[in-house]
Amino acid sequence: MSFTVTNQRNGEQFDTRPGESILDAALRDNRIFPYGCRSGVCGACKCELVSGSVDYGDYEDFALSDDEKAAGKLLICQATPLEDVVIDADEVMTGQNIQIRMLPCRIGRMERLADDVMRLYLTLPKSQEFNFIPGQYIDLLMKDGQRRSFSIASQPQQVREDGLELHIRLVPGGQFTPRVFDGMKERDLLRLEGPFGTYFLQSDVDRPVIMVAGGTGFAPVKGLIEHAMDEDPNYSIHLFWGARDRKDLYLDSLASEWASRYQNFRYTPVLSESSSADWTGATGFAHEAVIAEYDDFSGHDVYASGPPVMVNAVRDHLSKRGMSIESFHFDSFDFAHQD
Ligand code: FES
Repeated sequence: MSFTVTNQRNGEQFDTRPGESILDAALRDNRIFPYGCRSGVCGACKCELVSGSVDYGDYEDFALSDDEKAAGKLLICQATPLEDVVIDADEVMTGQNIQIRMLPCRIGRMERLADDVMRLYLTLPKSQEFNFIPGQYIDLLMKDGQRRSFSIASQPQQVREDGLELHIRLVPGGQFTPRVFDGMKERDLLRLEGPFGTYFLQSDVDRPVIMVAGGTGFAPVKGLIEHAMDEDPNYSIHLFWGARDRKDLYLDSLASEWASRYQNFRYTPVLSESSSADWTGATGFAHEAVIAEYDDFSGHDVYASGPPVMVNAVRDHLSKRGMSIESFHFDSFDFAHQD
């Protein structure tokens, strides 16, 4: 049966199809609520169920605890209504016409950025529009119907000429990424769906921004920074990029170049397992370097992308020092969907 979802926040309504999650129905209706993984892992789509009942679906406890559920929270990427429901959720206004599309694409170019990181440029059909906001991600569809999610590292205006840029980290034993490193070649045909996610710049230019990237969490951050600097080269951004070793900072020279080109851009690479004796930069985990540098985050917007453990550490530590949850934006990579 179809049910109606009403968002108490703005009074807007949309209908779900039988078995459809609230988020899928909203996206089909071109509405964007905050969301990330679409698989019940990141918790970005958590909001309040005001009335009505739902099937809560499958999710991880750390995305929605029993206490939160008892307090009336739900994950709209997993919840399917069992009757008409009222939710209370922020709707994200993008000011852009973003439609989720399924498209064929070809590998236009492959470039090895590190032993375990490949940069892919995907060529999209010339006759098809593909709009996205820097920081969003796409799903690559495998023949058996499985999907793998990857952040877009490029700007919309670069796609026609260069293709859609992805940074793919090798997950040994995985189903998709080993093929990228061994067997996949230029001109191979793939299928994608997207764009997805709400990890995009939502900050006022006047508020300084802290960005924290872990590993290939640099990919969406590259999209965000290039977009921000395109809008205003005086944007104040401090990027912390956490990696194991120096070779894992696979576009270190690009981040350093931003630091020399933009007056209000700072770059702090952070190594957790540095083996190079000549490394004089920050060591430890990325969030440790951030809190070593700043005492109070009440005046900052914070963006974090990378593994859930890093994103959670950033959220926990910075919120103890004044960061509000509304000014925290994150893209928590679920490696189960990236292997
Ligand atoms: S838990 Fe719903 S989008 Fe991640």
